[in-house]
Amino acid sequence: MSLRHLITIRDLDYREALQILDTAEAMAATQSHRVKKLPTLHGRTVVNLFFEDSTRTRISFETAAKRLSADVINFSAKGSSVSKGESLKDTALTLQAMGADAVVVRHSSSGAAHRLAHAGWMDLPVINAGDGTHQHPTQALLDAMTMRRHLKRQPGDGDPVAPGTDLAGIQVVIVGDVLHSRVARSNVDLLTLLGATVTLVAPPTLLPVGVDEWACEVDYDFDHALAQNPDAVMMLRVQRERMSPAGGGFFPSPGEYHASYGLDRQRFAALPSHTIVMHPGPMNRGLEISAEAADSPRSVVVEQVANGVSVRMAALYLLLAPEGASHE
Ligand code: NCD
Repeated sequence: MSLRHLITIRDLDYREALQILDTAEAMAATQSHRVKKLPTLHGRTVVNLFFEDSTRTRISFETAAKRLSADVINFSAKGSSVSKGESLKDTALTLQAMGADAVVVRHSSSGAAHRLAHAGWMDLPVINAGDGTHQHPTQALLDAMTMRRHLKRQPGDGDPVAPGTDLAGIQVVIVGDVLHSRVARSNVDLLTLLGATVTLVAPPTLLPVGVDEWACEVDYDFDHALAQNPDAVMMLRVQRERMSPAGGGFFPSPGEYHASYGLDRQRFAALPSHTIVMHPGPMNRGLEISAEAADSPRSVVVEQVANGVSVRMAALYLLLAPEGASHE
């Protein structure tokens, strides 16, 4: 792969996106073995640089790097010199000086991953693990991997799958706090690149300015969007920590939000039988998603987490071992 960094889905063309997804499938195949570890990145060091709280993404990257035999250093802003005011630049210089081979970064500022990769402070591949409300490319890739597994047309289903149409004909509804969601942005970019159709559903207060120019439909009415029989319904977390003051103004009350935009018991029961339910986690049960939906066999939330490890293994492998990619 010619890519040096993974900062945004927009850096990927169709062929590169498929290469990551196909490599993730190959990685997944190795994960059913008793010994899960591959020697590929033995002797390399991956730094997890997390300026924002994270549970599953950080653990997922750590697991992925370790499964490829890399050493992992977890650097979280709390308890580090960052809380003493150290800048992103000084942190970057330190990582380079310590001999890191790749940096996985999560930051509350949109653009932080791009800056780290391109400011000239260090010369290491950077993977964006979420920057502000901008992008979260590995999340979109793991979501696409999950959809391919459940929904992709198989040879024999009709026309041969043409380039740019890996998820052709698949309808995805993404519901909730789109305004603050890097997951929604990354998914719109990747799903449309793969040929799927996306509808965003949210109250007007939780949609960003300029959303009309995105390559998707926008609907304020969840029931109307569900009446189109989507193949996947992706619920987004209401990101209260990005709402100030404390959620005020974006919706009248949690109860009203759930009634209008929650995947409640009735809406869940009315879904077509093949429709999958997705959520990037962490879930606010009772707010954007009901326990019935979250815990049902239709929910692929746990599969999304498992696929996250495979996608991150693929990304680390393709960025750090490109010469190996053609020889092994
Ligand atoms: C998402 C994130 O951090 O952007 N979560 C994740 O990576 N698992 C979505 C969210 O926090 O709501």
